[in-house]
Amino acid sequence: MLSERDKLIKKCAEDLVGSKYAVAFTGAGISTESGIPDFRGPSGIWTRDPEAERRSYEIFGKFLRNPKEYWEEALKSPLYEILEKARPNPAHCALAELENMGILKTVITQNIDGLHKKAGSKNVLEFHGSVDKLRCIYCGCRFPKEEFLNEIAEKRVPICKNCKSPIKMDVVYFTEPIPRDVYELSFAEAEKCDLMLVCGTSAVVYPAAELPRIAKRCGAKVVEVNFEETPLTREGVSDYKNGCPENPEL
Ligand code: APR
Ligand code: ZN
Repeated sequence: MLSERDKLIKKCAEDLVGSKYAVAFTGAGISTESGIPDFRGPSGIWTRDPEAERRSYEIFGKFLRNPKEYWEEALKSPLYEILEKARPNPAHCALAELENMGILKTVITQNIDGLHKKAGSKNVLEFHGSVDKLRCIYCGCRFPKEEFLNEIAEKRVPICKNCKSPIKMDVVYFTEPIPRDVYELSFAEAEKCDLMLVCGTSAVVYPAAELPRIAKRCGAKVVEVNFEETPLTREGVSDYKNGCPENPEL
């Protein structure tokens, strides 16, 4: 006799196999089992320290005012070290496998940890960027972090190889615009998909949180995987949800 939870997993597998263009939309919750804390979950960084969330709104302004100070603080952040060491978990590998099987076409992720690509996913849209790259906000150029290891080690501000401006991590901070290229590609995928698998996001940060709503409005089935209810659950955007610790059956 299948448990409620297993019935939902079976239903999701059937929906994925029956889809023509499935897309995954992921948040910090897919990386918690890789040792990276999420932000707003039961033991999230900001759940435990609301002051940290307020400080995060100041980072982009700091880069604009004082790139040297921005880099000193960015490299000192404990999260930076956790991200460096983190490895993909079975959830990342499962999405990569679904892409290999030709079922999943794209992963749109809000995460900056680079773990989808490390798990083998090829078509990944990093909506909030990635710690594996640096980006110039003036000309839009991106560079692999490896090209600036000397500057980072010697605490010199990395300079854009194209327009000579100071550059920052390719991480989108609050008050910073989403890079146009990844914004447009992500919204196009949300409009095109007939199934969106939403994994581990509280769905409260815009414009990213608009993506499942766009998919729904364009006729896609939205399947949510989350410990807890989110606005997507409460507003009926998700067709069904799986995965909550207080009721392991679901
Ligand atoms: N399984 C299922 N769900 C999980 C798991 C897990 N193992 N771990 C955490 N979750 C759920 C939490 O319950 C929470 O609802 O994942 C969600 C994570 O939500 P957030 O911490 O808000 O992360 P996210 O939605 O990605 O945040 C969006 O906000 O802080 C900014 O730029 C940052 O990209 C981030 C954006
Ligand atoms: Zn530049």
